[in-house]
Amino acid sequence: MPIIAVATTKGGSGKSTLAACLAAHLAQTGEAVEAVDTDPNRNLVARLGGSGIPCQGVDEEQILAAVAAAAKRAQTVVVDVAGALARGLLYAVSAADIVLIPCRPDRNDVVEAVRTQEVIRQAEAMTRRTIPHAAVLSQVNRRAQVTAQTRAQLEVLSVPFLPVDMPARTAYQQASYTGAPLADAAVQEDVQAIAAAVAEMMEIARA
Ligand SMILES: Nc1ncnc2c1ncn2[C@@H]1O[C@H](COP(=O)(O)OP(=O)(O)OP(=O)(O)O)[C@@H](O)[C@H]1O
Ligand SMILES: [Mg+2]
Repeated sequence: MPIIAVATTKGGSGKSTLAACLAAHLAQTGEAVEAVDTDPNRNLVARLGGSGIPCQGVDEEQILAAVAAAAKRAQTVVVDVAGALARGLLYAVSAADIVLIPCRPDRNDVVEAVRTQEVIRQAEAMTRRTIPHAAVLSQVNRRAQVTAQTRAQLEVLSVPFLPVDMPARTAYQQASYTGAPLADAAVQEDVQAIAAAVAEMMEIARA
């Protein structure tokens, strides 16, 4: 697995949670994983604190160098990004092989997913390559009408999204205290499915 950036301009959408869970899952499967936390709040550093996964907190101007260095040491690098339209977002998605855009079932999150995709388009123009990306529905109630509505909106707005999502579970909140992102069995299942969907995206991108 490659350099995975978890990014959206929307705050609180579940970026650090998804980044921590993915990193922990990939480490559990035996991959050498490193994480880079580009958010000044350093939430990913805190979340991975007890996990044994190296996570370096870096300032905006260090992002490209830190990600490149981590990619030399590890098989997979997970990059967490601050929830704002900032230069750090452009750097992080420019460095990424794949970008995941957490998106809650909420109109504002969809608007910010579109804005994030625009930044990815800029990065694609700058780096002259395609940057595979997809929204990941987060904090969802799978049976709620708004979940289907959000998927429909993303489709209308041409933002691709993963076929699997992250349900709303208190276990994700609990994990913010424990330093063990995958302590819950249901969370493990969610994350395994997301990792499989990401692997499939990478396969398609390589083909
Ligand atoms: N699937 C989920 N179910 C329930 N709560 C969740 C879920 N994902 C995240 N949360 C909670 O939502 C809040 C925001 O999550 P998180 O910190 O991962 O978002 P973020 O996008 O990284 O935020 P920020 O923009 O502040 O960095 C946290 O309290 C987290 O525990
Ligand atoms: Mg965060």
